[in-house]
Amino acid sequence: DDSIGEKLVELAKRRGYFFQSSGAYGGVGGFYTFGPQGAALKGNVEDAWRDRFAVAEGNMEIDAPTIMPEPVFEASGHLDGFDDMLVECPDCGESHRADHIVEDNTEYEDAESLPIPEVEEVIAEYELVCPNCGAGLAGQAVETFNLMFGTNIGPGDSQPGYLRPETAQGIFVEFPRLKEYARNQLPFGVTQIGRAYRNEISPRRSIIRTREFTQAELEFFIDPETDEPDLSAVADVEVRLYPASEQNVEDGEEIRTTIGDAVAEGVIASPWVAYFLGVAKRWYDAVGVDMDRFRFRQHLSGERAHYASDCWDAEGELDGNWIELAGFSDRGDYDLSKHAAHSEDRFTVFRQYDEPKTVERATVDPDMSYLGPEFGGDAQAVVSELETLAERDRAAFEGDSVTIDLDGESHELPTEKTGFAVEEQTEAGEHIIPHVIEPSFGVDRLVYTVLHHAYREDEVDGEDRTYLELDPEVAPTFVGVFPLQNDDELEATANDIVADLRDAGLSVTYDDSGNIGRRYRRQDEVGTPFCVTVDYETLEEREAQRASDTASGDAPRAEATTVTVRERDTTAQKRLPVSDLPELMADLRAG
Ligand code: GAP
Repeated sequence: DDSIGEKLVELAKRRGYFFQSSGAYGGVGGFYTFGPQGAALKGNVEDAWRDRFAVAEGNMEIDAPTIMPEPVFEASGHLDGFDDMLVECPDCGESHRADHIVEDNTEYEDAESLPIPEVEEVIAEYELVCPNCGAGLAGQAVETFNLMFGTNIGPGDSQPGYLRPETAQGIFVEFPRLKEYARNQLPFGVTQIGRAYRNEISPRRSIIRTREFTQAELEFFIDPETDEPDLSAVADVEVRLYPASEQNVEDGEEIRTTIGDAVAEGVIASPWVAYFLGVAKRWYDAVGVDMDRFRFRQHLSGERAHYASDCWDAEGELDGNWIELAGFSDRGDYDLSKHAAHSEDRFTVFRQYDEPKTVERATVDPDMSYLGPEFGGDAQAVVSELETLAERDRAAFEGDSVTIDLDGESHELPTEKTGFAVEEQTEAGEHIIPHVIEPSFGVDRLVYTVLHHAYREDEVDGEDRTYLELDPEVAPTFVGVFPLQNDDELEATANDIVADLRDAGLSVTYDDSGNIGRRYRRQDEVGTPFCVTVDYETLEEREAQRASDTASGDAPRAEATTVTVRERDTTAQKRLPVSDLPELMADLRAG
């Protein structure tokens, strides 16, 4: 039997969820188009994310460009460090991720952390082969491959740019302005939902690993010394955790605990990371990820990105494999420090002391013009060396002379000539570089997981049926409306119902092709929670209504007719009044 993943990919194509792009030209690996249902589902998931992580958490959402100039990625470390290991097959020429080949075929679980020569040795020792054609890979050079897509900004090549490999950098580079909007008060969070691009060596498993995908990211800026999350809101959220000390994560003992206990026992080091794991677990549950197939796994040290000091992944199980859905990283002050060092802007926030503090400041004489030629005449360099020394090591000024380094040479200066003094100063606060806690969600993978976890097969009236048990909150089509047969009156009534339901803000599909059973099956496969059928009973009721209105001499009333409403999961059918439908359906959608 095919796996659910294989059947899902077929269904996704057939029903307009997603399919490989540019099929007319043979398609190219790693690019997918979301069809009408997929785009609607993805939009619903993004709206739900925005409602939770931007609106409900009180964070600010921004929308930055996807192309950024090279200096951004020099600073962020992506130009140097955002690499994967590539090995090329000597026979068919196909490129593969060397670490994946090692992980898939040996007991190594964290091949990414191995140095390249060791990966080459493992490939040779295990006689690993090309997954495409079976040719031996021993002896092939393993190379680093930068995942960023490069481009030129404007004509010529004088201004290189890159498609952002994470939406996060669009937030970090704007920190000097964003902190103003936050009135310079930590903590605050900035979200962004948008495209990210990675020239993946081997895109895999339909929309799980693509070269263009959507991320929903939150960069939460904190003062690491003073800011604490309110854990009470998530303390009792139950979680399955795989801490990194469990080297063999597939067979290792999982920890089933609560967020509150995991923090108290030090299993999750950062309370902020723990807070967002708790919020995320509830949210994943609400959008339809099966909580029996969901866990949090801590990154092994070699697995962590160049910017992260700690990272936990949210993982969903698909056909027996655990897939990363989101990463929750403690990025420390890595990004803001780098952008501060590489740019002219200020990436600090003023931390006001509760009470002004009196501090001692060591100073030196800023005028060194009396210094002789042995210092190369560079009095400024001497001053700055002395200032640094005075700040770091006052004891150095206790003797008769002070030693400083200038251009690699040591020089002695009589202490009295430095003008060294200690003064008291009053300070209201200090400038600090905030730390960043980052929940980073992949939207495409989540859409795939929601569909996969909703995939069901059963039998109805002796016939096989496939349906998607999608949560009403995210289902792309909420209700299907059908006239029982091709009949002007049935069709007109059905169209009136469609208009009323759309007015109530619901996404409705009208279908009058094929027999009614086929139309139900089609909506089952789309995952439409309800179908409404207008039949002859509806028309008869209307006729009877009209006749009684005319006979009684009353003005015609709102027609008290009924339709058949069918529920997707149980296939149960009920007759319900047409006039109640918009309100009833809107309530069901809201949950
Ligand atoms: N800013 C942090 C960051 O980008 P990441 O773990 O590299 O972290 C975050 O990516 C999420 O983006 C992943 O958990 C995954 O869901 C999604 N993602 C990453 N690469 C992807 C790809 N090639 N295709 C689809 N989704 C991807």
